[in-house]
Amino acid sequence: MKASEIFAVDGRIVIVTGAASGIGLTIAETLADNGAYVVLADVDQAGLDQAAAAISASGGKVEALVLDVTDPAGVASAFRGIAERLGRIDVVFANAGVSAGPGYGNPIGALDALDFELFERANRVNLTGAIATMTAAARIMKAQSAGSIIVTTSAAAFSNSRLPGYGYYAAKAGLAQVVKVAAAEMAQHNVRVNAIAPGAFPTNMAGGRLREPGGGAAFAAEAMIQRVARMEEIAGAALLLASEASSYMTGTTLHVDGGVAAT
Ligand SMILES: NC(=O)c1ccc[n+]([C@@H]2O[C@H](COP(=O)([O-])OP(=O)(O)OC[C@H]3O[C@@H](n4cnc5c(N)ncnc54)[C@H](O)[C@@H]3O)[C@@H](O)[C@H]2O)c1
Repeated sequence: MKASEIFAVDGRIVIVTGAASGIGLTIAETLADNGAYVVLADVDQAGLDQAAAAISASGGKVEALVLDVTDPAGVASAFRGIAERLGRIDVVFANAGVSAGPGYGNPIGALDALDFELFERANRVNLTGAIATMTAAARIMKAQSAGSIIVTTSAAAFSNSRLPGYGYYAAKAGLAQVVKVAAAEMAQHNVRVNAIAPGAFPTNMAGGRLREPGGGAAFAAEAMIQRVARMEEIAGAALLLASEASSYMTGTTLHVDGGVAAT
């Protein structure tokens, strides 16, 4: 079989949350470049408009959806509307996320200085928001007896470092386990649930620290491959899990982290 057939996503209806920038945007661009119809969902209206215009200008089929993943009823109703209008939803990336502030390598990230507002915000977006997205996807996919749900967790669910804040660890580690449980439940409905666990990608996350030489170097030092990722290095994992190339994969995590989780 040809790679273009194995990894085919053309005609697939895909929703990506957190698609206005960073990893979500790169995933959306990759799928649109390969012929999928992509719904970009995000709270950032201006970022969404810019992203949708760019994808559309390069020939992609795309629409923008202003969506706050921390509102489960809003997510469910938006997904229902998309499924009714487009006939189905094939793939959902639950990717939206925020940082929880610095980790204990910075005095304000220490356990005895924990900022509960940041802790709770990270859990609200990264854990509750991702589960709200999975729930809305599950309702549609269970009814159509088909689908693939892909959750962006993090290397932080599998390792520890001085860099991310406690709320980030709590949310992403919880999510990593939820992926396994949901995969077990949804397999009987022909719905697969998998995760991508990125290492350090130079996005807007953490106030853009990863883009700065100093911040980037601290993260790079934790990887076996001693550098931060290039944005396009998320594309292969996204295409694998969104296509039938992964038809016998569920409950698994693809670590795209330069080796962090294996240290
Ligand atoms: N960048 C990294 O190094 C890294 C590493 C591991 C995991 N991740 C995860 O990757 C995912 C994407 O992050 P990124 O690095 O691309 O950062 P990013 O800040 O570039 O993108 C995150 C996007 O999520 C959106 N968002 C935030 N809150 C939202 C909400 N309530 N509803 C809808 N959208 C919302 C933002 O507007 C933004 O467009 C996150 O889940 C993040 O935790 C990132």
